[in-house]
Amino acid sequence: MNLVPFASRYPKAMPLAEAIHQHDVLILGSGAAGMTLALNLPPHLSVAMVCKDQSSEGSTYYAQGGVAAVIDEYDSIESHIHDTLEAGAGLCHEDVVRFTVEQSSGVISWLVELGVQFDMRWSQTDQRNEFHLTQEGGHSHRRVIHAADATGREISQALERTLTERSNVEIFERYVGVDLITADTVGLQGNRCLGAYVLNLNTDQVELFRARHVVLATGGASKVYLYTSNPDTASGDGIAMAWRAGCRVANMEFNQFHPTCLYHPRAKSFLISEALRGEGATLVLPDGSRFMDRFDPRGELAPRDIVARAIDHEMKRLGCDCIYLDISHKDPQFVRNHFPTIYERCLTYGIDITREPMPIVPAAHYTCGGVVTDTAGRTDVPNLYAVGETSFTGLHGANRMASNSLLECMVFGRAAAARIAADNETADLDLEIPSWDSSQVTDSDEDVIISHNWEELRRSMWDYVGIVRSNKRLQRARRRVQLLQQEVAEYYGNHRISRDLLELRNLIVVADLIIQSAIRRKESRGLHFTLDYPNLLPEPRDTVLIPPRYG
Ligand code: FAD
Ligand code: SIN
Repeated sequence: MNLVPFASRYPKAMPLAEAIHQHDVLILGSGAAGMTLALNLPPHLSVAMVCKDQSSEGSTYYAQGGVAAVIDEYDSIESHIHDTLEAGAGLCHEDVVRFTVEQSSGVISWLVELGVQFDMRWSQTDQRNEFHLTQEGGHSHRRVIHAADATGREISQALERTLTERSNVEIFERYVGVDLITADTVGLQGNRCLGAYVLNLNTDQVELFRARHVVLATGGASKVYLYTSNPDTASGDGIAMAWRAGCRVANMEFNQFHPTCLYHPRAKSFLISEALRGEGATLVLPDGSRFMDRFDPRGELAPRDIVARAIDHEMKRLGCDCIYLDISHKDPQFVRNHFPTIYERCLTYGIDITREPMPIVPAAHYTCGGVVTDTAGRTDVPNLYAVGETSFTGLHGANRMASNSLLECMVFGRAAAARIAADNETADLDLEIPSWDSSQVTDSDEDVIISHNWEELRRSMWDYVGIVRSNKRLQRARRRVQLLQQEVAEYYGNHRISRDLLELRNLIVVADLIIQSAIRRKESRGLHFTLDYPNLLPEPRDTVLIPPRYG
């Protein structure tokens, strides 16, 4: 049996030869947050960027709508701040919102310098080319800068292209972070982060990465739900690792469900951008009638929590499997030009969106909570940072406004890089850190335990901790997750690790944090709606969880 302190496996002994890496900065994750951070570090710092798949794989690559930024002369920073606070239902930290929004136009200029090609349009009034701005839910102005409906791909490719020119950055693909190493967890004095154990999927060996600064840029946790718009990488690894390492985690009950994912047996995870509604697409019931006006005066462009709940309500009321999004009244050429990816993808399933409505359902999309950080990305553990969707900065409150996430990744990626660059302390890299010991574990004899528990966890979260919650549903989910936790902890202690096992272990931690947070919130606010407490409490409060042994 392996040693299992703090419900995780840390090594028992110094083993045989093992790869040891040593860098100034270790970044776990190669999405918008991780890449932005790497690109903004000074060239004299050596950087390891570790990603558990190919470097492009992650939510960033699939982002469709765009980046929210104040560019238009009729728009204002105050208006963007106001809309973000409004969508966040009283829980956004206003100073953080201002910090982020004030940097939005600078972020766009930086991306353009790197070669990102956003859509432009000719302005008759000014006789010049300007950004084409689209609109999404919650925004009172057109302020979403985009590259057709594949903004994430365009940004991701430009960042990656620039990164390959940087000789100080080494990219490790198919390497999965297992656990952070802190002075506390290996019994040394003066707590700080020292590096991470990382499973190399190319060799199936765990390798030791030592670093002066460690950054979690591992994305969100929406894979904890059965139906999600997210790619497989979104298993909450960074949140679970930080929790095990002693960091506070906040507002995990605010799971954003995107109202419109394509409903088709072969269309796993395919999102239909909110920008379609921004350009006039309507939500309709199976009989073709519109319904959003019954729920909110902003209709289809109400914030996401309201639209997703309205769809869920109508689907339950009518007992139907999906409802529809219709843009067929618009000029077909306009639709093909603005939404080429969505048009082509739907066509492969036999749906021509220029002629007929598309079937849609809500799906888990974004994790508003995460690892608590300050505006420089610093967590509770010295030398450990968290940026992007894995972090909780206070920007999104109880409901993230559309297209504010890519903005956050880049604003905080840059801020954390500046903080690391300004750190003059050179932490010792030669401390004695035990290497990973797998001498006493066996190969898995029953992989079915992993696949069965993956399915059970995600289905329980979908059924009991979804768009509409109740005390009874949350307690039911809690009992199931506790059982899964025991079973997987035992399995983890005795068997060789794999990507699936690591992800399952992390998803169980995340599920537990979501349920704990949801049980604590005795009101309905933003994305958290419960039948037992349908009203708002007078005072908005974050739900901050502290790891038990640090509490
Ligand atoms: P990601 O881009 O998800 O990258 C995570 C990285 O971490 C990956 O490289 C992954 O391999 C790595 N990783 C994870 N775990 C480990 C581990 N254990 N070890 C090593 N590496 C690990 N937001 C907007 O603002 N505008 C949009 O238009 C928009 N559209 C979206 C459309 C879709 C379909 C989706 C899914 C999301 C969308 N979002 C949008 C949200 C936004 O894309 C994400 O919040 C954002 O891209 C997250 O970036 P990130 O860098 O934090 O993480
Ligand atoms: C979308 O294009 O609808 C996604 C935008 C976002 O999640 O911010």
